[in-house]
Amino acid sequence: CGIVGYVGAQSPNARPLDVVMGGLARLEYRGYDSAGVALVTPGGLATAKKAGKLANLAGELERTPLPPATAAIGHTRWATHGAPTDVNAHPHLSADQQVAVIHNGIIENFAQLRRELTEDGVALRSETDTEVVAHLLGRAYDGDLTAAMRAVARRLRGTFTLLAVHADAPDVVVGTRHDSPLVVGLGDGENFLGSDVAAFIAHTREAMELGQDQVVTLTPDSVHVVDFDGAPVSPRRYTVDWDASAAEKGGFRSFMDKEIHDQPHAVADTLLGRTDTAGHLVLDEIRVDEAVLRRVDKIIVVACGTAAYAGQVAKYAIEHWCRIPVEVELAHEFRYRDPVVDARTLVVAVSQSGETMDTLMAVRHAREQGATVLAIVNTHGSTIPRESDAVLYTHAGPEVAVASTKAFLAQITAAYLLGLYLAQLRGTKYPDEIAEILDDLREIPDKIQAVLDAAGAIREVAVAMKDVPSVLFLGRHVGYPVAMEGALKLKEIAYIHAEGFAAGELKHGPIALIETDQPVFIIVPSPRGRDSLHAKVVSNIQEIRARGARTLVVAEEGDEDVLPFADQVFFVPRTASLLAPLLAVVPLQIFACELASAKGLDVDQPRNLAKSVTVE
Ligand code: G6P
Repeated sequence: CGIVGYVGAQSPNARPLDVVMGGLARLEYRGYDSAGVALVTPGGLATAKKAGKLANLAGELERTPLPPATAAIGHTRWATHGAPTDVNAHPHLSADQQVAVIHNGIIENFAQLRRELTEDGVALRSETDTEVVAHLLGRAYDGDLTAAMRAVARRLRGTFTLLAVHADAPDVVVGTRHDSPLVVGLGDGENFLGSDVAAFIAHTREAMELGQDQVVTLTPDSVHVVDFDGAPVSPRRYTVDWDASAAEKGGFRSFMDKEIHDQPHAVADTLLGRTDTAGHLVLDEIRVDEAVLRRVDKIIVVACGTAAYAGQVAKYAIEHWCRIPVEVELAHEFRYRDPVVDARTLVVAVSQSGETMDTLMAVRHAREQGATVLAIVNTHGSTIPRESDAVLYTHAGPEVAVASTKAFLAQITAAYLLGLYLAQLRGTKYPDEIAEILDDLREIPDKIQAVLDAAGAIREVAVAMKDVPSVLFLGRHVGYPVAMEGALKLKEIAYIHAEGFAAGELKHGPIALIETDQPVFIIVPSPRGRDSLHAKVVSNIQEIRARGARTLVVAEEGDEDVLPFADQVFFVPRTASLLAPLLAVVPLQIFACELASAKGLDVDQPRNLAKSVTVE
């Protein structure tokens, strides 16, 4: 869910509501099945909430304007307990209507707390776990909202970010967090809270990370933080280096379209500043003892969704460069299968948001088992890096569209830097070999740009294919995870059945799916690559074409062998085999984005999905 809080000028005005609605618009990718706001006004609390997207709430506020306010909180929801209805939307109020609360996470002991309240005669209005917190706060309040929040937070089990306002405290917002993110934005005569910095980046870049089990009290001129026992703490301050315009569409039809076009920057920025003048990799941020990294005898990548496919691509490169076995495990499967992990295991957690609960739980499990955990994450101040031994940030900038694109390329790039760094440290590659790969990587942004410049053909094909019921994707070696990512994009945003297969597996089953006009994308390895992979994949194209498939081929520029068997070819520039995924996935992203747009779907906010899934 997305959360925003604001306290500002002393006299009541319209700004609190405007700031909160603006913040919610930027956070809507965190959940969008309902939205709501609560304002502290001279006449008491005023609330509005609406099922559906933020636009519904905005419409409601236009029809029935709320009075000027001194403080405000706002929420966009991704339902966990209770259907996405007006009643279940946040904020929730205490019985006396004096406290309003918004919440991200799940209160695990809510059934017990609810029973307690009901037995005491409290009538609950919604089906949510959050309403329980509103009632508890109302009952605990005796003039000090911070004290009430501390008392209530100690009773809650599960995960939560909570913000609360009280009718009697016109310029106070109180927040707390446990296993769920909350950041403070520091302004001049005004202060902000948000589930991430996108909530307030339009107003301030000065931020403060709230630690686990802390309570923050915001007034226009002060920010006080205490732990659950009331002891003061001073959280770390930092300056956000994201550009606010990066969080806006910048002329593109959708955030996804914009983010696809941002990819040359995402890769270039992730490479930036990570080598010294002699061309050696310097990854200062990996604050893990070099002796520990030299001893590593196994790497396990844990991640979900697109991030897991980035891990699968990286496996090929890291094993090849470092001679360390690499496993890639979906984070939610990892800790439930009793994985073999010890002090010589390096667990690499890959996540755009840094908040995916499944991945966070895998990180915790790995650390409990004594592994060293390194996070590859895009969002500063998020939870996964905080709980890891070290972090290598991807510099993709804020990614807003639910379907991940530029973060994927940045994740592969960062994982490659990690692989090369380990190879440098352990001496499994000569310095000039590493320098050569880095040179190839530095050419990738221009080559991605070339793919983007030539995207007209794939756009046309996508529009013409908008009514197909199913699309298959085949790839081999690093092309295999690319095929799966291509299929995932189509499922996520175009709601089309799609599957990615390893091309070698075709003959063991999937070929039975091929019938007349079945569209199949084939990611062809470079003809200059080792072994005879290229020839084998070209044979696969012939095999499926002979059975009636419509073949859509992604191949390296100048690869004429594919021409006789391809209904359409999308060429990408030449590069080293291991770097090819950074180019080959781009036409597949464009295909999904165009096809979904042609179907009239909301590309950025596909049904049933959320950008950052903070529940298990
Ligand atoms: C969600 C999103 C996916 C994303 C996955 C992992 O399921 O819808 O697009 O790939 O989470 O997210 P992360 O933030 O950990 O990379």
